[in-house]
Amino acid sequence: RDSIPVITIDGPSASGKGTLADLVAAKLGYWVLDSGALYRATALASLRAGVSLDNEHDIAALASQLDLHFEGGQVFLGHEDVTHALRDETVGAMSSKVAALPAVRLALHSLQLAFRRLPGLVADGRDMGTMLFPQAGLKVFLTASAATRAERRHKQLISKGISASIADLREDLEARDLRDQSRKVSPLKPAADALMLDNSSQTIEESVDLVLSWWADRRPFHSAGH
Ligand code: CDP
Ligand code: CDP
Repeated sequence: RDSIPVITIDGPSASGKGTLADLVAAKLGYWVLDSGALYRATALASLRAGVSLDNEHDIAALASQLDLHFEGGQVFLGHEDVTHALRDETVGAMSSKVAALPAVRLALHSLQLAFRRLPGLVADGRDMGTMLFPQAGLKVFLTASAATRAERRHKQLISKGISASIADLREDLEARDLRDQSRKVSPLKPAADALMLDNSSQTIEESVDLVLSWWADRRPFHSAGH
């Protein structure tokens, strides 16, 4: 599997990772790994089962038993469409708490590696470039100012008919970023060889074009590259 090309996109909450990953993957015909969805699904399953955060091994067991499927932009847990349930901020906050548990990260490890399939993979999350795919051909660390990220998340929710205050959203995402940056296992931080991309004043299309040009520049180094 090591020769299959991988692009990693890590960064803080609502920086645009998922959108960028989907569009870059669509252009290249690659697979996508939305690793955050695995942590969110683990959080949802834990909340539903009423398992508290003290029971690390019970939560890890739920993580290893996840029956998660991605189908055309929707996420299914078993037969249930959980696309919207996963985006709930109660689930978001819980996801960064379960994500700090080493046994949970271990339980999700091989599940994530299995997404590396031909012709290639674009993986987004927090530790894609540092832990899961340290040999990735291109590592992007995507950031944007907290104000920009809160505004974007707000717009995203409004478009789905969900109301929320920008101030609350900003507080939620900053609390989650701090938790993700300060945990002992796989903290959110750029890989030493990551390219930094602040997209605060970029359109999505500009970011996509930039990442595709970075990937094209590296093509000679990847025999299976696109
Ligand atoms: O995956 P992550 O939480 O990092 O972010 P996302 O869900 O991909 O992006 C959050 C929102 O920001 C989405 O509604 C994107 O369309 C929007 N966005 C934007 O307006 N401009 C950008 N340059 C990047 C993302
Ligand atoms: O969309 P957003 O950026 O807000 O979050 P996400 O990517 O769906 O991830 C939700 C949470 O899962 C994050 O706050 C992290 O705590 C955790 N996560 C992680 O620890 N490692 C990853 N590779 C992906 C997500």
